[in-house]
Amino acid sequence: MCGIVGYIGSRKAADVIIKGLRRLEYRGYDSAGIAVNHNNKTSLTKCKGKVKNLETMLDESNTVGTFGLGHTRWATHGIPNDINAHPHQDKSSKFTLVHNGIIENYSSLRQLLSDAGIECVTDTDTEVLVQFIGYIYKKDHLDFAEAVRLALTKVVGAYGIVVLCEDEPDKIIAARFGSPLVLGIGKDEMFVASDTSPIIEYTRNIIYLDEGELAVIKKSDYEIRNIRKNHIVDKDIEKIEYSLEQIEKGGYEHFMLKEIFEQPNSVSDAIRGRINYNDGLVKLGGIQDYVQNILDAKQIFITACGTSWHAALIGGFLIEELLHKSVKVEYASEFRYRRTTVDSESVVLAISQSGETADTLAAMKKAKSLGALTLGIVNVVGSSIAREADAGVYIHAGPEIGVASTKAFTSQVTILSLIASYLAQKAGKDRTKVQTLLDECKSISNKIDSVLKLSDSIKTIARDYQDAKNFLYLGRGYQFPVALEGALKLKEISYIHAEGYPAAEMKHGPIALIDEEMPVVFLVTKNQYDKVLSNIREVKSRGGRIIIVSSQENDELMEYSDHIIHIPSTHNLLAPILMTIPLQLLAYHIAVLKGCDVDQPRNLAKSVTVE
Ligand code: G6P
Repeated sequence: MCGIVGYIGSRKAADVIIKGLRRLEYRGYDSAGIAVNHNNKTSLTKCKGKVKNLETMLDESNTVGTFGLGHTRWATHGIPNDINAHPHQDKSSKFTLVHNGIIENYSSLRQLLSDAGIECVTDTDTEVLVQFIGYIYKKDHLDFAEAVRLALTKVVGAYGIVVLCEDEPDKIIAARFGSPLVLGIGKDEMFVASDTSPIIEYTRNIIYLDEGELAVIKKSDYEIRNIRKNHIVDKDIEKIEYSLEQIEKGGYEHFMLKEIFEQPNSVSDAIRGRINYNDGLVKLGGIQDYVQNILDAKQIFITACGTSWHAALIGGFLIEELLHKSVKVEYASEFRYRRTTVDSESVVLAISQSGETADTLAAMKKAKSLGALTLGIVNVVGSSIAREADAGVYIHAGPEIGVASTKAFTSQVTILSLIASYLAQKAGKDRTKVQTLLDECKSISNKIDSVLKLSDSIKTIARDYQDAKNFLYLGRGYQFPVALEGALKLKEISYIHAEGYPAAEMKHGPIALIDEEMPVVFLVTKNQYDKVLSNIREVKSRGGRIIIVSSQENDELMEYSDHIIHIPSTHNLLAPILMTIPLQLLAYHIAVLKGCDVDQPRNLAKSVTVE
């Protein structure tokens, strides 16, 4: 939700900022803006729409200058128009600020400003904050850093901010509470951004700001303080671990397609080093010190949002099946507010690709405050959930840029199957089943490769369905969450209404929707074959159009289907990995044929840092 970049150094700041904003656009693309300081004057350019619109508005006069900041917005307060676009300025135009998050007490601050004769000109909570900084700076004769710090002590809500002040043009200030910010430490130049992607090209040395920290950033040095206690904090410099190529399209038309095709590697990266094929044992260093706590836990919860929640459902099934313990899977947005039974004998797993989803982070913090052991299953190294959890396992899928999650899902499911196997081995349960599952992990990447070879034939199927208004996805058991995920992918990127259902539940409602206009995607595996076949017959007899994804190949399925997508067979517990990929490709091809913006679908953002 909103991307922020700041730069101070000797380069042309606008070049660094615009390039950085393009990389952060996955976080929101309702509007974009940039402010660059030159000769102690800040010039501001901002507009509705994407960064490419902003670029067309820039000319030499408003881009000279070697320090500045920029923003790409996902709207919360105020519609996405030019005036509500960031950066925002205070009344004196001395202070310029970009913000990611929500200022919850903005109404009372707005009233306070109004009483002091300062009227806000935009509908945003952000303008209130920058006006407030300008107001106390003048009223209390503060310096730049102290005005920002003191203002932030009065703010309720979430923020990642970067601020400029014309009176002190040797520095930029960044602060974080609830929205991520990373500092990049270069040679006589410094960067700050919502994630490391705008920084990697210039330096690999980074510092993650923690909650409640403020950084005063100059060209050649920086100082980090705790906002409330106002003392200096010593921070370790860490290294960016991925490469620049990983965040570029590498010849693919879209990031989403690239990420779908990366799955043979991302799934094997999730497994690498975690199964010892000599002794058949799983090794998960990130949680090994907590195994006994997990095995002894009275309750296990898994919490997540969106695609990660679908992976959580599969994770719940896996742990129940292999560890024989019941697992509750919860939407983080509900879990964080509902009265639950979480206590000190509970384990709560939080699953998140970004590691920054506000609801998942809050649900995890709540569980922690109730005494639970918290475990993170996260992709982005150093992200908030990864840092906040007591322990965890990285999925190592590499950067995922396409807003619709693909490779992160299959890596999450892979890791969950390893966690379930690991716990079962430690508890001495279901040895044979676990062993066959782990053996099958050896060939899963090659099987994913075979599924990807079906892309062209899936594109042919997509042509027949690009004008459909609705879609139904049906599966049983482990394929039910896959049905949900298939429907979500289609909704997200093609704007076709789609629903996922347990195949047998169709009879209790959705069957009323079935006619010649309704495509139904069935997920058929060997162990649920007969049951799903009955559901297929029910749809066939009502004229529905049937697409079958199956590891089974026979005349019966051929007869009932309008289209059939054959995938390799695998262990039942790993089947969701292979089943999901044709659904990703189907959604992708339909969306491209419809001319949709696949990587940046309307209204969505990849990292949802507001609740
Ligand atoms: C957003 C994204 C989804 C993602 C969800 C959870 O809605 O558009 O693709 O599944 O957030 O994100 P997380 O980073 O926590 O997995």
